[in-house]
Amino acid sequence: MTGRPRLLVTRRLSPEVEARAGRDYDAVFNPADRVLTREELVAACQDVDAVLPCHSERFDADVIAALPDRLRLIANHSVGVDHVDLVAARARGIVVTNTPDVLSDATAEIAILCMLGAARRGAEGDRLVREGRWTTWSPSFMVGTQVTGKRFGILGMGRVGRVAAARARGFGMEIHYHNRRPLPQDAAQGAIWHDTPESLIAASDVLSLHCPATPETVGIINAARIALMPRGAILVNTARGALVDEDALVAALQDGHLFAAGLDVFRTEPGGNPALAALDNVFLLPHVGSATFETRIAMGYRALDNIDALFAGREPADRVA
Ligand code: DGY
Repeated sequence: MTGRPRLLVTRRLSPEVEARAGRDYDAVFNPADRVLTREELVAACQDVDAVLPCHSERFDADVIAALPDRLRLIANHSVGVDHVDLVAARARGIVVTNTPDVLSDATAEIAILCMLGAARRGAEGDRLVREGRWTTWSPSFMVGTQVTGKRFGILGMGRVGRVAAARARGFGMEIHYHNRRPLPQDAAQGAIWHDTPESLIAASDVLSLHCPATPETVGIINAARIALMPRGAILVNTARGALVDEDALVAALQDGHLFAAGLDVFRTEPGGNPALAALDNVFLLPHVGSATFETRIAMGYRALDNIDALFAGREPADRVA
């Protein structure tokens, strides 16, 4: 390759990140931040050596098959890589990276916001005041459930899960988790390991999802597992919408089996699920787990670090395929 590698940046990123990308690469930006159609994505990839996409761009097997031979790297601006067919990328020799660690704090904060918003009826209360419908007060008005002393169950005690555990400890919660194997004692910090998702789910007053969406985890929170949650429990999802059977969740929220849910992610994004949005006992956010100024810059730099490594002949630190 002569000259600087050509890099496609699919979405508008932080000014600091775009400045660094433009300084170090022959970068193609998307100043209008328009979501590319699949055809536009494939076309835009034809004359680049690397692409820096977000989870809003799907690199399924067909898209990957249509990528040019010169494209060496998909450097995601996300920790989740369920939008990329890793098997297809590997088969074509395209390196795939993600941005772990840097978004753990921000995402754990959103998990706690979702938990508290659900437990204390945040969305309902906000609407009441905002819409001028707050006309009374009494000791029985807008009563929620307290998290102090309750069990915080973490499905997927990885980087984000561990930060969420630390934050939940600050609320005096008892931490439970399920991973395939128990964490070493110093990492577990007293959290109680469950050898199956079912055991964790049955022991969680608040169940918070922190596992990636993979063929093994898609739909893991289905009707049968929701039925195992203690009556009055809360579901928090800041991981991926695909983990949850949303019809089953709506039913459990409607019939009172679950007290509430706090959701930042949905099966359909953008947009969410109107059936969930119609319920008062759901606290909703539009997939903003990592959306802080600090974290967006850190994610962009991390993606660029991976690109720098590849073009300098080094192994990118965050290679996932
Ligand atoms: C992630 O990093 O996976 C977040 O969901 C944002 O894309």
